Amino acid sequence: MKWNTALFPILVAIFVLVTGLSIEKSPQNDRGEEVYRQYCQRCHGSDGAGGKGLFNISERKIWQQSPREIIRVVAFGASGRNVYGKTGLRVGMPPAPYTDIDIAAVSVYAMKVLGKRDVKISADDVSEVKRKHVTELRKRLEK
Ligand code: HEC
Repeated sequence: MKWNTALFPILVAIFVLVTGLSIEKSPQNDRGEEVYRQYCQRCHGSDGAGGKGLFNISERKIWQQSPREIIRVVAFGASGRNVYGKTGLRVGMPPAPYTDIDIAAVSVYAMKVLGKRDVKISADDVSEVKRKHVTELRKRLEK
């Protein structure tokens, strides 16, 4: 076999590998992973099952719901549980202090790693969910 006949399949294999890997590691997922590690992981662990009790969110139904739900939880937090009894202090999930782009990225990442689902979420989706949620809150709470 000539050297160039052997080289061709190797080059094709390298090409497929490199393009495959770059699709898998899109910039949005990189950023999502970064935000998750920096911020979410301390409470939920690296796979969402880390931590116990309320922090274990691996079996929540949110993973089967519309991606709007995860956006809402990340952007506005979750009320959690009254852990101090009579004082009424709730300890829950704080709203993520990130931009819409980062909220989109980390939501996609959480859906993928914790929910085992591939979803598309853009910064525009995040700002729309935020806007609608606040309108809805006002309708309900300003009565
Ligand atoms: C300070 C700790 C803390 C951090 C940081 C945190 N969470 Fe949470 N999270 C919680 C707690 C506590 C709950 C449970 C609240 C409840 O059930 O009301 C929760 C609930 C959730 C839920 C389930 C909500 C539902 O409706 O079932 C999801 C999804 C979630 N977190 C994702 C994230 C993601 C993604 C991040 C990072 C952007 C994050 N959390 C950061 C504490 C945290």
